[in-house]
Amino acid sequence: MNYQKLVDEAFLASKKAYVPYSHFKVGACLLLKNGEMIYGCNIENAAYGSTMCAERNAVYQAYCQGYRKEDIEALAIVGDCSPLISPCGACRQVLSELLDPDTPIVLGCKDYYEVTNMQELLPRMFIGESL
Ligand code: THU
Repeated sequence: MNYQKLVDEAFLASKKAYVPYSHFKVGACLLLKNGEMIYGCNIENAAYGSTMCAERNAVYQAYCQGYRKEDIEALAIVGDCSPLISPCGACRQVLSELLDPDTPIVLGCKDYYEVTNMQELLPRMFIGESL
């Protein structure tokens, strides 16, 4: 499967990032099984802990629209950095609950991407069934 289009769309989303503190723009693009795309970018805050990451914004937006994990085909997360961008711990915890463990997650930079999933990114995840 070629995910270049999804990576390109995520980079378009990253242009809207609000990053006055880190100046590090991140974009996310969620592809739904119905073909629709839902976008996210990082939104920072002077109270740094209130910052929201691009991938959480995209996935929360999808859930706000009524979609659920079974509707999600793939998620791309991109940033202009080396090594390749990788979701933070808080995002891994959230994505482990809101995505299927084997849903493709595409990590991209300008001219390269890799495909992974939550099973790889957060092995032995803490999920609701554990409660
Ligand atoms: N960030 C994301 O949006 N997603 C990631 O996967 C890594 C980090 C944001 C948070 C913050 O606005 C900036 O990147 C620097 O940490």
